[in-house]
Amino acid sequence: MTMLFAATNGTVVTIVVFVILAVVVVGFLGIYLTREKKPSPASDAQGKEELGETLAKEAVPRSPEGVAMQPEGVVALRSEQELRDKYKELRERPGLVRVQAIWAAVYADIDIADYFQEEREFLSENPKVQFERIVIGQDHHMTYLQELTTDHQNLRIFTSPTNLQFELYLCEYAQPVRHMVGVLVVNSALSRLPEFGVLLDGDVDRGLTQFGYTLRNWFESIPKTAVAGTKRTQNVWTRNAREYDEFVHRESELPFLRDFIRQEETLLEDLLTKATQDVTLLEFGSGTGRTLIDFAKRGNLGKVKLFLGLDHSQGMLEVARRKRDKTARNARDRLFFFDLDGAHANRAFWNGQVRLHSSMNDEAQLKRAGFEAGGYERGDRFICCLLNTLGVLDATTREAMLRNMFTAAGDDDSVIISVFDREAFEVYARELYPHIHALVGKDEITDESYDDQLAEFRAGYYYSHWFAKEEIESLVDQSGGKISHEWPIKSGDATIGLFVLAKRDDV
Ligand SMILES: C[S@@+](CC[C@H](N)C(=O)[O-])C[C@H]1O[C@@H](n2cnc3c(N)ncnc32)[C@H](O)[C@@H]1O
Repeated sequence: MTMLFAATNGTVVTIVVFVILAVVVVGFLGIYLTREKKPSPASDAQGKEELGETLAKEAVPRSPEGVAMQPEGVVALRSEQELRDKYKELRERPGLVRVQAIWAAVYADIDIADYFQEEREFLSENPKVQFERIVIGQDHHMTYLQELTTDHQNLRIFTSPTNLQFELYLCEYAQPVRHMVGVLVVNSALSRLPEFGVLLDGDVDRGLTQFGYTLRNWFESIPKTAVAGTKRTQNVWTRNAREYDEFVHRESELPFLRDFIRQEETLLEDLLTKATQDVTLLEFGSGTGRTLIDFAKRGNLGKVKLFLGLDHSQGMLEVARRKRDKTARNARDRLFFFDLDGAHANRAFWNGQVRLHSSMNDEAQLKRAGFEAGGYERGDRFICCLLNTLGVLDATTREAMLRNMFTAAGDDDSVIISVFDREAFEVYARELYPHIHALVGKDEITDESYDDQLAEFRAGYYYSHWFAKEEIESLVDQSGGKISHEWPIKSGDATIGLFVLAKRDDV
């Protein structure tokens, strides 16, 4: 809740930061003071006599889990060079999966051109590390930032209207166990120079990982706007959302599209009607709400109490919400369309649980219809990604999104994926893309747009990959899922797609 308010109010953000910083500094001082009080070897015997060995042991600080804290886990960083070296060292540690950073200071001793060069190399060499940076008051570096974010799909840059005097560098590692390491830096309010940094190393002291998660929650609640280049791929959808809605539906004139959509719907509907208790249908990349809105209107799907769509294209979300708002109340009040990148959806959906962030912004609907997380969590969930949405993502986002679908799933939940079939590409891609050319970019389709070897179509910013059965099977396997059933999707005698039902693999 604190986070919800914080996201809408810059002043409160500052207060939250002070509270977090106070907690960190108090924790740090606690460790430091305890360290200072540690008896010298000479007085040790006397101390033991006075306090008894048990009490002396009690003086060792404890983490929230009751594990003895390691003072080396908290380290002061006192110069720009120390900070920069530490950031570099943190990026080089094995198992790094995510960096979330706030850049708000002015660095006097650091050559910015070198700094960007290093960042560029890091992003190219580590395409699987997700990097998010909130930049505050660095307008003079905007050209560099736009270039960086355009060239690197794994980097997202945001600006924020807040006037934070703190920096954060928060790293998440998957090895040897999942843990967080953060550097929190206080800047001078006058010069904006970094004054003092604290390293909280969750690798040395697992208890500090808790601080890391608190810092992440705060990071995610900061009001922010994506920097232009970041929206490169989503622009295709935002720009063409209306055309998408006009061309892509079950009555399409194109047999390929009509057959695919109708069979996909029937297979999904069959699974939903077999549900024995209340369910939520959660769609990753829900677009203009084609499936969710239509299903919410169907009388035979009363067991589905919630229809949740996630998409990160503003244009697609707007069309979906506008259509939703025009439907009858019974359908409307079960439909929510959230602004969320599927590659980062684990912040909100994990293990059958949900935590909505205000940045997911379907506020008017949340107020009007109310959203009860308990309802979502008590029932079962069907988590789907339809109409070859996996194919329009670059490989890194695809893997992250699929992994997040399984992360979102609880024990009995179903994960459903439907994709276009690689074998059908040569013939059917040449029918599909000219038919939906308004979505692709009117004059951009040429012979070079089709790569039959890779089963990939590219025109302008539009990209789509069609999948071999084995490819999907191995993707599911790598993402923590196991397939329970597969159905071919047909147009006449030809197989044009694959509809897959999977479960989480660890149950
Ligand atoms: C091919 S459309 C499919 C839309 C919808 N599922 C349907 O069946 O009509 C792909 C959708 O995925 C969305 N998308 C692309 N990348 C995404 C991401 N990383 N996170 C969430 N949505 C994404 C696009 O904005 C677009 O709405």
